[in-house]
Amino acid sequence: MSYQVVPNADSQLNRSSGIAVYPGTFDPITNGHVDIVKRSLRMFDQVIVALAVNTEKKPLFPLEERVALVEQCFTANSNVTVDTTDGLTVDYAVQQNACAIVRGLRAVSDFDYEFQLALINRKLERRVQTVFLMTGLRWIYISSSIIKNAARHGGDISGMVPAHVLAALKEKYTESK
Ligand code: COA
Repeated sequence: MSYQVVPNADSQLNRSSGIAVYPGTFDPITNGHVDIVKRSLRMFDQVIVALAVNTEKKPLFPLEERVALVEQCFTANSNVTVDTTDGLTVDYAVQQNACAIVRGLRAVSDFDYEFQLALINRKLERRVQTVFLMTGLRWIYISSSIIKNAARHGGDISGMVPAHVLAALKEKYTESK
């Protein structure tokens, strides 16, 4: 028996544009996030790191500072752009002609939330696929909150964040003392 893949409206809509959106709060960006962007670049021609303006979180770094910290990570990568978005991520992805939203998975505990997010995003907008990438083993225990918590208490977080982020965190917590 042979099977044929029949082109339909969906497959036309889902054609790859080579552009992916990697959304998040990035408060601040960590080496785990950088790892996901680098892995994405093996699959996509362009990656747009999209910082959420309206997040339910109370970020330590204001939006402009978060953007600048992300930009500094990718000065050598002309195929990575940094932007902000304050609506639905899928709407932003369509505006940018992106074919995919990239999400990093660290552990099984991420899965439930990510599955739910991917399904609602697909319900809202069928033209954009969610692509999950496994974070490098070295970074699976990292989150922005854990890093901020360690930094606040003077813990050594070098090697978990880029050097300029480390400096920014030190400055932030010295300011607040
Ligand atoms: N390495 C290190 N840390 C990682 C990571 C990785 N590869 N991947 C995720 N994390 C961390 C993040 O730093 C973050 O840490 P924190 O909770 O301590 O801040 C945590 O894991 C969760 O990250 P993420 O799931 O990316 O959440 P977010 O808050 O950064 O971003 C949005 C969530 C903004 C992408 C999502 O809420 C969104 O799309 N909002 C817009 C509105 C919308 O479209 N909603 C969906 C439909 S209703």
